[in-house]
Amino acid sequence: MKIVVFSGAGISAESGISTFRDNGGLWDKFKIEDVATPDAFSKNPELVLEFYNERRKNISEVNPNAAHITITKLEQKFDVTIITQNIDDLHERAGSKNVLHLHGCITVAKSSKIDGHYKYIAYDDIKIGDLAEDYSQLRPHVVWFGEEVPELENAAAIIQQADIMITVGSSLNVYPAAGLIHASKTDCQHFVIDPNVEELKLPENFTLIKKNAGEGMSDLVQRLTLG
Ligand code: APR
Repeated sequence: MKIVVFSGAGISAESGISTFRDNGGLWDKFKIEDVATPDAFSKNPELVLEFYNERRKNISEVNPNAAHITITKLEQKFDVTIITQNIDDLHERAGSKNVLHLHGCITVAKSSKIDGHYKYIAYDDIKIGDLAEDYSQLRPHVVWFGEEVPELENAAAIIQQADIMITVGSSLNVYPAAGLIHASKTDCQHFVIDPNVEELKLPENFTLIKKNAGEGMSDLVQRLTLG
């Protein structure tokens, strides 16, 4: 039995990390075009680096929550891969083994010129003047709006193998990531854990668990491991 967990910002909300599109979320406080596009980085690299330094600091100060930890229990019984849209490292810190970061990871920096020059920086700030191997300015290893999603095909290939897919804490608003739920086999069983998603917006064979990630994940894992 192959299980794919597809996580979004909502899974980390109970750890104390803001989501993007809820009321008071990050995109209420910052404009995407100021901090999360290649153009923003060209125009005002200080502001973009500061925005992500702030995110990294916040992530370093919080811990995985019940939802992240419950997934590791699922891993003891099933073949589980996590495909996360999150740039935080809370799945790894909870102990999950197979985690694919679709939108990058905040503990890694990369060259702003050449793809593939990465540097692990843990929770350190990136400052103007910090250089990659190719002497270009380091930038966060984050997929910005308008950039390609290099892991998209890998993610789709993993999802095609899934017997069960659990989507947790994503508004499914951002493409191409959101389209991945449709890459599954026709007989894949889909569960969606989110306190706010409308049932009407989901395909009819999807089961909605209208709860916070911690409680919803615990209910579902009990159901899957007992039944
Ligand atoms: N438990 C579960 N879900 C929650 C919780 C919670 N405690 N709190 C909020 N949510 C849900 C919201 O109802 C919403 O559907 O999490 C979802 C968060 O949606 P977004 O903020 O849009 O986050 P996400 O879907 O991960 O965004 C996708 O957008 O800006 C980008 O690159 C960024 O990867 C991110 C992408």
